[in-house]
Parts: sequence; C-alpha cells; structure tokens
Amino acid sequence: MLKGKHILLGITGSIAAYKAATLVRLLVKEGADVQVLMTAAAKQFITPLTMATLSKRPILVEFYNPENGNWNSHVSLGEWADYYLIAPATANTIAKMVHGIADNLLLTAYLSARCPVIVAPAMDVEMYNHPANVRNMALLKERGVAVIEAATGSLASGLEGKGRMEEPEKIMQFLQQSVSKKKSLTGVNVLVTAGPTYEAIDPIRFIGNHSSGKMGYALAEEFAARGAAVTLISGPAALKAQHPHITTIPVVSAAEMYNAATAHFHTAHIAVLCAAVADFTPQHPSETKIKRGTAPLQIQLQPTVDIAAELGRKKTNGQIVVGFALETDHELPNAQKKMTAKNLNMIVLNSLNDEGAGFGFDTNKVTLLYRNGAQESHGLKPKRCIAADIVDAIQSIK
Ligand code: C5P
Repeated sequence: MLKGKHILLGITGSIAAYKAATLVRLLVKEGADVQVLMTAAAKQFITPLTMATLSKRPILVEFYNPENGNWNSHVSLGEWADYYLIAPATANTIAKMVHGIADNLLLTAYLSARCPVIVAPAMDVEMYNHPANVRNMALLKERGVAVIEAATGSLASGLEGKGRMEEPEKIMQFLQQSVSKKKSLTGVNVLVTAGPTYEAIDPIRFIGNHSSGKMGYALAEEFAARGAAVTLISGPAALKAQHPHITTIPVVSAAEMYNAATAHFHTAHIAVLCAAVADFTPQHPSETKIKRGTAPLQIQLQPTVDIAAELGRKKTNGQIVVGFALETDHELPNAQKKMTAKNLNMIVLNSLNDEGAGFGFDTNKVTLLYRNGAQESHGLKPKRCIAADIVDAIQSIK
C-alpha cells in the first residue's frame, strides 16, 4: 500500500527519536520512498548517518548547504510528499506549527506541505497534559493534522504517564489506514448541504439562524480528501471550501437550496443534509423596505419544503441520504422519528446541551443513529474529526 509513496519524515529533539530508525526501516520495507528532515536538536538524539543509511538518502536539516550553497527547497519538499509524518514531535515543534513559526527546514516544509500531515507527539506527562499543549494539539486537529495520541507507560524522565511516542508499528498501521482511506471514495459523487438559509422579509431584512456552516464544510473536505467529487450547496457562510474536488454552489434561501439539491441529487451516490434550513419563510416578502411604525407588524409565514424528506422520498436503490437533528428535548426518540419519517439511512444527533458543541463552535458532540437501531456516541471533538467519524460511518453502511 505504501509502495512508491513519498514520505517526508520529520524528526525533532526527543529521546523517542531513536524509534524513528525503526520507523524508517518499516517504511522502506513497505517500498516507501523516505526523505528524512531533522531539527538541529534531533541530531543530538540520533545520528544523521544512521537515518541517511536507513532511508538511503542524505537527510536534510538546514535551509542550505554552507559548503556549496545548495538550497534545500521546502516548497519542492512539500510538493514531493504524499504524506508528511512528524515523529517524534516535541511540544516545542507542535507549538511552532500552531503559530506558523518557520525557523527550521522541518517547519517550513510543514507550512508548504499540501499533503496530509500526521504528528506523533512525544514528551513528558506534565508537558503532554499542560493546557498549552492540549490546546495546541486540538488546534492542529481542527486544521486537519492527524495527531496520533501518545501512549501511556514509563517515560525517560522516570515518571509514569501519557507521553511516550506511539510504537513505530502502530504509527505504520495509522499511516496505512490513512492511505487506504485517502482514495476510498474515488468515483463517488457526494452532495452536502451546509450553513443557514436566509428568508427575506424585505430587501434588507431576513429570518436566519446561528449555523456557521463549519460542520458541513468539514464534511465536504473529508469526503473530498477520500477522493469523492463533492457538490457543496451552501447557505450564507463566512467559509471557503479549499479542496479542488469541491464545487460550491452558494444559495441564500431554503427554496434556492431545495432547487440546487434536487437538481444535483440524481447524480449523487451520497447526500448529507447538514444545513440548518429555515422551516418557515415569509409568505409575501415586501419589495420595498418596511418602514418603522407604531402599530404591531405581522409577518405571515409559510412552511418551506423539507429537502431531506424530499430526497429521502426520491432516493432510488443504493443512494444514501443522511440527515442531522438538533433537539432540545427527548433527543434520541425525536431523532429516531425524524430518521424514519424522512426515510434517511442515518441521522446525526447534535447536542446543544454540551459545552463546546453546536452552532459556531469548532468542536461538536454527536450520536449517530442507524436504521437498524444501532447507536454510536462520540465525545467532544474538533468538527474535522467528527466529520471523519461520520464519513467512516457512512462508508460502513454503503
Ligand atoms: O425536521 P428538522 O428540521 O429538525 O430536520 C433536520 C434535518 O432535515 C437536517 O438534516 C436538515 O438539513 C434537514 N432539513 C432540510 N430541509 C428543511 C428542513 C430541514 O433538508 N426544510
């Protein structure tokens, strides 16, 4: 699976650097082409000669060779790599990655990398659990970096706890899973709705909601990263999809979202309806700005079309339709009912009752409900990680 893959392996200054030698051996054995980058501190823990011999390439540390001026282009390294694995990653390097600090080649290559980045932290238990490091790792995850949690055990400091870099065999497993996931949806068309809708009251005002679109955009990115062609129908959101496989169709109202969704549904294999669509819309929006007055103002609202229910009704054999539910009471039974009523294959129950979950947050907490009655609860995680869980779940029912 890793045969011919270009792997950049970044090694930073941790005692766990000795495990990087085994990691390179395993990668080379699998047929990967490995380029090792080291920080100056890493060289104190494992020699460049060891790493160059095992990887069969000179290792890189500096921006240029002072002897002959040969420039080590971090941009070319970033383009060359299929995966960038930083193992071991110290608290220092993780913090610098978060802040975009570019004071060594390993970090500039990170900032230039367009490929998936995987980080395996290694540090003492107190450092690992320090709020600064916990926050930094969460920020990297939010930005799509995969963080392989450290293992628990005895540490070089003599302490016991979490902080040991995960074993090379486990890191290999993780990398192999990432490679198999990466192309697992090639040839699959996915439709995602995201964000709020705005229902015009007059040319100036609208009825909207607090949806930021973050969950839907994270889903679109995750599907695209696995090779799917994604049509993202987005209500007004301050976000921009990055992946070249995502075609964004901006819409404003529920009616526009419905038209776009039905126009694209027939070619979709999977539809995920993540948008917070207005359930009611003003029946007769005013063509001119409604003037301030002293009398109470009544706006007659009429129901919008339920896009999820409509696609659930239209779906033909093999098409998968997934919806979301945001409930304030009787969460599970209400979500279950919604899944059946709208003929969905799965429903994602969002929690509004948990701190850090729901509108606008970068994190979320969801329970996945399947048609066969199975349920799966996920803890509070960055929306990027929740998106990966949801896509995994959808692939399992395919
Ligand atoms: O019925 P309720 O609005 O709670 O259902 C939520 C689910 O239905 C979400 O997946 C949402 O995207 C979808 N929905 C829709 N069109 C509507 C209302 C909700 O697609 N008009």
